[in-house]
Amino acid sequence: MLDTVKHLRMLDQDPFGIALDKIDVSQAELYEHDAQWGFFERLRKEDPVHYCADSEYGPFWSVTKFNDIAHVEKNHQLFSSEPTITIADLPEAIPFQSFIQMDPPKHDVHRAAVQPVVAPANLAKLEPIIRERVGKILDELPVGESFDWVERVSIELTTQMLATLFDFPFEERRKLTFWSDATTGAPDISGGDFITPEDRDVALADCGEHFVRLWHQRVSKPGNDLISMLAHSERTRNMIDSPMEYLGNIILLIIGGNDTTRNSITGGVLALNQNPAEYDKLRRDPTLIPNMVSEIIRWQTPILGMRRRAMQDTELFGKQVRRHDKVMMWYVSGNRDDEVIADPMSFKVDRENARHHLSFGFGIHRCMGNRLAEMQLRVSWEEIMKRFRMVEVVGNPVRAKSNIIRGYRSMQVQVHPW
Ligand code: HEM
Repeated sequence: MLDTVKHLRMLDQDPFGIALDKIDVSQAELYEHDAQWGFFERLRKEDPVHYCADSEYGPFWSVTKFNDIAHVEKNHQLFSSEPTITIADLPEAIPFQSFIQMDPPKHDVHRAAVQPVVAPANLAKLEPIIRERVGKILDELPVGESFDWVERVSIELTTQMLATLFDFPFEERRKLTFWSDATTGAPDISGGDFITPEDRDVALADCGEHFVRLWHQRVSKPGNDLISMLAHSERTRNMIDSPMEYLGNIILLIIGGNDTTRNSITGGVLALNQNPAEYDKLRRDPTLIPNMVSEIIRWQTPILGMRRRAMQDTELFGKQVRRHDKVMMWYVSGNRDDEVIADPMSFKVDRENARHHLSFGFGIHRCMGNRLAEMQLRVSWEEIMKRFRMVEVVGNPVRAKSNIIRGYRSMQVQVHPW
């Protein structure tokens, strides 16, 4: 929760009038109101590597330009992902260890063990299942009345896919959504207001119990799912002896496969509604869908940014960064950098070079599920366009309060069949 006695509230400030050194882009409220753009525009122009001396999360650097972010990502020896990748330090109650917050060589070993689940052959197997499930979700939507797209489509779709990946009991699948939201939605981790830290800790203990049980089941009866893969792979078969590591990797996959894709599905509908000429282009030529999917992921930037920690004193584009300083790479800003992306505030379904964005990160930690996410979004849009001339947004979307996830809590729509 923002302590307004100690910290100047950014929401009340003019991004172009406030003193540069007072800018603090860590405040979750900014993203809840989609009010970050002016602050980042100013930083990219006047102070692209910016020091905030005092925030809710202590002092931190913000890297705001596309190429500078890529530079930090590529120099992983100098900018470590340990101990964690959110601007908030990990609360003691969640001592997770997952490979997104590890450096090589440990990172590489764990990533290699989980990677096969998103290998091209597995994705090809998943595609028809996802298509069938998307179709069913869309066919059951009410016509002629408003409903919440986030609840009925975006959450349902991503949660079904996750349940499939883990072979998690299908009727209990909403627990996966809840555990993901609980992990990222508490005030001590993201400035969020989804859940209290106490309730989060209870939820995660429940998550742990479920997945430890599933592990033991899969040891004796393996299937073609992620837990069986971990329980039987040479490199990870002993992971259960370090439960926090096992749970950390599970939570990483739940969040990775949940919040991000979910918010891209919602963001795409919003982007097309805000840009009717682009919606027309898409209606005229649905073969634009794969390109549009990349543009949606850039435009939405579902993960706002990632944190690194400097391993030694170093100069970063003219600024003196000290050992152990927190360095935030703001993808949400890099994706609007007009030195790299032409007309970056616009949403263009036929944008050239649309895959050149930062939403999946860069370098050794680049999103492991990027092809899966793209496939899921492509299939979703193919099926949506077959059925509906328009998914019309009929109310203002409610955005998530978070400094990790750029997402939506709800968005009212009406669907209009062809
Ligand atoms: C890592 C974004 C979907 C699994 C990441 C990172 C980002 C990201 C920004 C960190 C990159 C870095 O530090 O350089 C997204 C977005 C998605 C998405 C925008 C959807 C639009 C998925 C899906 C899965 C997944 C569907 C898997 C089921 C992972 C994993 C990592 C990761 C395991 C850690 C990789 C590592 O540390 O080596 N993702 N992600 N993501 N993502 Fe995704």
